[in-house]
Amino acid sequence: MNPEFSERLTEAATRVEAKLEQLLSHQPQEGEIARPVRLMDAMRHSALGGGKRLRPFLLIESARLFGLDGEGPLRAACALELVHCYSLVHDDLPAMDDDDLRRGRPTVHKAFDEATAILAGDALLTYAFDVLAHDATHADAQVRIRLVARLAQTAGFGGMAGGQMFDLMAERAMAPLPRAEIERLQQMKTGALLRYAGEAGAILGRASAADLDAIIAYSTALGAAFQVADDVLDAEGDEAAMGKRVAKDAGRNKATLVSLLGLDEAQRLRDGLADQAIAALKPFGQRATILAEAARFTVARDR
Ligand code: IPE
Ligand code: IPE
Ligand code: MG
Ligand code: MG
Ligand code: MG
Repeated sequence: MNPEFSERLTEAATRVEAKLEQLLSHQPQEGEIARPVRLMDAMRHSALGGGKRLRPFLLIESARLFGLDGEGPLRAACALELVHCYSLVHDDLPAMDDDDLRRGRPTVHKAFDEATAILAGDALLTYAFDVLAHDATHADAQVRIRLVARLAQTAGFGGMAGGQMFDLMAERAMAPLPRAEIERLQQMKTGALLRYAGEAGAILGRASAADLDAIIAYSTALGAAFQVADDVLDAEGDEAAMGKRVAKDAGRNKATLVSLLGLDEAQRLRDGLADQAIAALKPFGQRATILAEAARFTVARDR
C-alpha cells in the first residue's frame, strides 16, 4: 500500500473516532430531553472502535481536493459514518441477514437485544441529519440543505433502504436475478453511500459542475467495485481479518455477481470498476493520487 495513503487513512480514522466519541457522549445536548444509557451504549457499540472508515475518509479526501479541510468535512464524514453504522445494525438483524459478528464483535442485537438494535439504528440515522444540519458543518445554510437533502435521498427508498429491499426480495426469488438488476441493487444498497462520500466533499468545497460530475463518476464506480469486492471476500475471505462471518451469501441465496458470473469473472469486473474510478479522476491530475490509491485499496483489501 502507498505509505501516504495508509497514513492519511489512519489519520482520518483517528479523527473520525475522536469526533464520534464526542458526538455520542452520554451527556444530553441542547434540544434533547435525555440520552438513555442503554440506547447510547448500543449506538456506541455500533459506531466506535472499529471499521475501515472508508466512507468518511473518502468524504474528507474529496473535500480536501476542493480546498476544504477541518471541522466541516469531519462532521459531514461522521454523519455519513453514522448512516453506514445504522445500515449495518439493521442489516445484521435476524429479519435481515441474521448475523452475529460485526467488526470482530457481537452484533448489536446479540450484545443487547433486537428492540434495542432497531432503536439504535433509528437513532444513528436521525442523528446523522442533526450533525449535518449544525452550522459548524458549513457556514452557508444552502450548502447544509444540499448535504441534508442528498443524504436523505442516498439513504432512503431511492438509495440504500431501497437497495436492501431489492436484496431481500432477490433472496426469496425463484429465478436468479439478471445482471442489470443485481447491478442496480448493489448501486443502491452500497453504491449510494460511497457515491455520497465523493459528492458531499464536492458540495462542501463548492466544486464546479464539471468537477462535481467527475468526482461522482469516481465515487460511483468505486461504490460498485466495493460491493463486488465484498461479495468476493464473502466467498474467499478470512473471517478473522474481516471481523464478520464469511461464506454466507451462497447459503442465503444472495443475488451477487459472484453467484451469477463466478469468482474469476467477478474479480475481473471488480478490478475493471476500480480502473474506471481511477480514470474518472483524470481532470484532477496529480492532486487526486490519494483518491486513486483508495480505489486500488477498495479492490485489493482483505477486510
Ligand atoms: C460493509 O461495509 C457493508 C457493505 C456495504 C458491504 P464495510 O466493509 O465498509 O464495513 P466497515 O465499516 O469497514 O466495518
Ligand atoms: C450490506 O451488504 C449493505 C448494507 C449494509 C446497506 P452485505 O449484507 O453484503 O454487507 P455485509 O457483508 O453483511 O457486511
Ligand atoms: Mg445484507
Ligand atoms: Mg449482511
Ligand atoms: Mg456482504
